[in-house]
Amino acid sequence: MPANRLIIRRFASPNTAAKALARYLARGLVANPRLVLGLPTGRTPIPLYAALVELHRSGFIDFSRASTFNLDEFLGLAPSDARSYRTFMQRHLFGHINLPASRIHFLNGAAPDPREECARYERQIARAGGLDLLVLGLGANGHIGFNEPGQALIAATHSTRLTNRTRRANAALFGNRVAAVPRAGLSMGMGTILHARHIVLLATGAAKAVAVRRLVHGPITPDVPASFLQLHRSVEVWVDAAAGLRLSGSGR
Ligand code: GLP
Repeated sequence: MPANRLIIRRFASPNTAAKALARYLARGLVANPRLVLGLPTGRTPIPLYAALVELHRSGFIDFSRASTFNLDEFLGLAPSDARSYRTFMQRHLFGHINLPASRIHFLNGAAPDPREECARYERQIARAGGLDLLVLGLGANGHIGFNEPGQALIAATHSTRLTNRTRRANAALFGNRVAAVPRAGLSMGMGTILHARHIVLLATGAAKAVAVRRLVHGPITPDVPASFLQLHRSVEVWVDAAAGLRLSGSGR
């Protein structure tokens, strides 16, 4: 059986991975200033966004013609809500770079008709010509975006119930009160994700080691949504030493 096509890139620390990925994105923007980027939230990309802001301040990266589409948003939260992913992105990245507001695309968690909102997002991605480069985080339970483990996965952008594990993982945005974390989210679907031309999944920290192993070596199963990345032609999995510890060839 041919080995899957995932490319693994290992880094000593979360910071070295973040800085290398920021430089990789900067090179991508030089090659194609109109790059259409998909972006994640979570703790993992915070050092990446800090490194991108730093590159921008030093004049090494120009977002003026790029476009972005974020992966997901909490259902029920308006973009202006202090706890929304939209606000998170403003705080960590968008507020500090020269990406025009008109090129920032986001799911609106407070849209009156979530189904129509998801359809609108799919149309917007299609109109932009699709995602050139999608950066993903990884849930400790193997989720990507808000595509949670379950009996089945949904292809298109959709609204979805969040597992308690995911709600706990997101509690920091809600004053560490798990009960305050919305029970549902809007997310790009597995098809939306797999249609991206190129994907870089960034996973750091020991808490991700099992999910990384299952993503790379495990069977393709909706129990581990990230395992479907094995079917894509152009995926890189970037890990720090801790997240890569359970990969074969890591001595375990
Ligand atoms: C959230 C987001 C995901 C993200 C995941 C990992 O649930 N919806 O897109 O990848 O968390 O978060 P962290 O990087 O904080 O571990």
